[in-house]
Amino acid sequence: MKLPELKIGQFTASVPIIQGGMSIRVSTSALAIPVAECGGIGTIGGSGLPVPELQEDIRKAKSATNGIIAVNIMYAMREFYELVMGSIEAGVDMIITGAGFSRDIFKIGKKYNVPIVSIVSSPAFARLAEKLGASAIVVEAAEAGGHLGTQTTLRELFPSIRKVVSKVPLIAAGGITNGFEMAELMDKFGADGIQIASRFVLSKECSVSQKFKETFLQAEKDDIVLVSSPVGMPGRAINTPFVRKMAGGEDVSTKECKYKCLKKCSYRYCISDRLIKAHGGDVEEGLVFSGANTYKMKEILSVREIFNRFVKEAESVYKEK
Ligand SMILES: Cc1cc2nc3c(=O)[nH]c(=O)nc-3n(C[C@H](O)[C@H](O)[C@H](O)COP(=O)(O)O)c2cc1C
Repeated sequence: MKLPELKIGQFTASVPIIQGGMSIRVSTSALAIPVAECGGIGTIGGSGLPVPELQEDIRKAKSATNGIIAVNIMYAMREFYELVMGSIEAGVDMIITGAGFSRDIFKIGKKYNVPIVSIVSSPAFARLAEKLGASAIVVEAAEAGGHLGTQTTLRELFPSIRKVVSKVPLIAAGGITNGFEMAELMDKFGADGIQIASRFVLSKECSVSQKFKETFLQAEKDDIVLVSSPVGMPGRAINTPFVRKMAGGEDVSTKECKYKCLKKCSYRYCISDRLIKAHGGDVEEGLVFSGANTYKMKEILSVREIFNRFVKEAESVYKEK
């Protein structure tokens, strides 16, 4: 049966898939545009970018597609409000935010008529987000890539949040690799859509280096590990030589703070520097964030092929709620 549309605020995605935002420069307009063209929500990772660069990328995406373009900005960023306001000024359709919780963002969303989507990992924050005016809520579980707010798996966490959210769409995220899982989460768990990120790293359009994609392709289950992040949350990443050095207790700190990206940094290592290194192909010294199920995906596909497969698989088993 045909999958339902996903309505968030004044926007309707014809396919209920959000491409998860990925910093720094992992999800740019190069990925967000084809996702939006396929009927999903294309998300530019805004955290850690200079505001003018983010604005230029949003404008590029908005002029290239009539589809939905969102930006993902982590609350932990020092320039959170500048990035939010800059994105609105550049004409972004929607703001997706997690890694900390801002109450003021909902007032800004209302004032400028820009839907705010909250990423949460607990029923308490889901309830709060709905009450304060979130237009949709993403439940991000332990299988997700990047920073993690929980150790609970998606199929354990989602039902506890489904119980407390009734007014706005609820999206499932973390470790989803195919359309059968998408249908399962929508049918059995009552999700209104899914957010996926790692699957899109392995797309032709994702602008990370070939080495980054190869690290994804070569990863086995045990190569995907938890790392500590200067943000103060654990993160999920591939066990690169840099991660092994850290686990072995080596000093990986940088002497000066070049990016001043975080509100509060542990200075254990420079996260911007390590993400930029990985993006550019230095996967030995870089930090390669990844979802827990990346090891199940062994092909680079076009965004169109990813959408076609997900929709075909999901619709072959999906039954209307
Ligand atoms: C390389 C990478 C970078 C990410 N960066 C961010 C980010 O900047 N902000 C954020 O909220 N989530 C970030 N995430 C999480 C994703 O948006 C998404 O919710 C999650 O990875 C979903 O799980 P999946 O990758 O298994 O599909 C990142 C994930 C990856 C793999």
